[in-house]
Amino acid sequence: MRFQPIATALAVGASAHLAQAAGLHDAAVAKGLLYFGSATDNPELSNTAYTTQLKNTADFGQITPGNSQKWDATEPSQNQFSFTKGDVVADLAAANGQKLRCHNLVWHQQLPNWVTSGSWTNETLTTVLKNHITNVVQHYKGKCYAWDVVNEALADDGSYRDSIWYKTIGEAYIPIAFEAAAAADPAAKLYYNDYSIEWAGAKSKAAQKIVQLIKSAGAKIDGVGLQGHFIVDQTPPRKDLASNLQSFVDLDVDVAYTELDVRMKTPATPANLQKQSTSFANVVGACLDTKRCVGITIWDWTDKYSWVPNTFSGYGAACPWDETFQKKPAYQGMMAVLGAASASASVSVAFTSASASASVAFTSASATPTSAISTPTPSSSAADFLPQPSAAAHIKAYFQCGGLNYKGSTSCASGLVCKKWNPYYHQCIQA
Ligand code: XIL
Repeated sequence: MRFQPIATALAVGASAHLAQAAGLHDAAVAKGLLYFGSATDNPELSNTAYTTQLKNTADFGQITPGNSQKWDATEPSQNQFSFTKGDVVADLAAANGQKLRCHNLVWHQQLPNWVTSGSWTNETLTTVLKNHITNVVQHYKGKCYAWDVVNEALADDGSYRDSIWYKTIGEAYIPIAFEAAAAADPAAKLYYNDYSIEWAGAKSKAAQKIVQLIKSAGAKIDGVGLQGHFIVDQTPPRKDLASNLQSFVDLDVDVAYTELDVRMKTPATPANLQKQSTSFANVVGACLDTKRCVGITIWDWTDKYSWVPNTFSGYGAACPWDETFQKKPAYQGMMAVLGAASASASVSVAFTSASASASVAFTSASATPTSAISTPTPSSSAADFLPQPSAAAHIKAYFQCGGLNYKGSTSCASGLVCKKWNPYYHQCIQA
């Protein structure tokens, strides 16, 4: 059983005994995780509706810069460091009291030309690698909860990726990078981060070998980041995700889902949005099932700024909020698995923004209790814990009365009206 802190995550105005979490982060913390967070990126920070939600610490207790700490941003010319953009995100995290996951130090992508087209020897490239890590990690010293030190060192079959690092230095570049990062900020948690290591298989095994390699070289590694870029219909069941997490934890490291999103063919269909909700819930559930899973980061919270459509042609809709910042079923699915969607009829949530326009409806919807849901056990399927309509035809205050795929009564008890917060969620509130 994971340690359960006293639930402090009460929705504003909710009766104290109900421990109704107001958002994903609060609910995650109440369940013993360290954080629930989101990636962000500099260009979208000019959108104030976007930043308002990014700063909503009930949902996000952690942020990750999606691009601005990468090599091309931080050392565009050799030994000329630029931290302006990365600092914007680091400062935002500090101002909001959010943890910062720093991302990343060594990767085969987003490298400037001077690195990829230089003619290096093992010795000269090792010097370049150490110099980069030392400068960047020192600059952010004390600000990063964690650093993704090495990103995606593995090919899909579990062999080493044929990157400039591997070709020039060999696998030793990995422990060298961890050693340099530890020297520059001993307090930061140091992670190996990769994708397609979320289920048991050759690549997950190879990532476990990387943990052992780093440790056997005498360097420090604190955690493994499982990116979690999933596809609807291809997300493993909760118990398989959890047992794979445990195989890393057995090597005495923390684990985290660091870049979670669940893409689907576009346009999105109601059925796929429900499947997506199940996928998100299973990933969050697997983290809850694993004692040293510290947190979950989504790779941005809105479809508007998701990397998916630009990268996977024909796919999109991968985030828990849609392009107009409305919550999708994935949000409710995660809240349910976090145990935050259950409420008794006596809950009284202060809807201070009942007159909110569609663009800000998420602020009030985030405090929304849904109908009675029991906390799922690891073996239950997500369908078991999606909001179920109450049996009575006359729905009580704050319970669901409509929305995509909702099959229950739409008739609210006397004095209440069924309010459409977003396409997925209609709720009985005071007339
Ligand atoms: C992505 C960013 O989100 C995009 O904006 C950028 O164009 C490419 O990189 N794995 C990672 C992340 O570790 O750094 C990637 O981020 C997504 C895949």
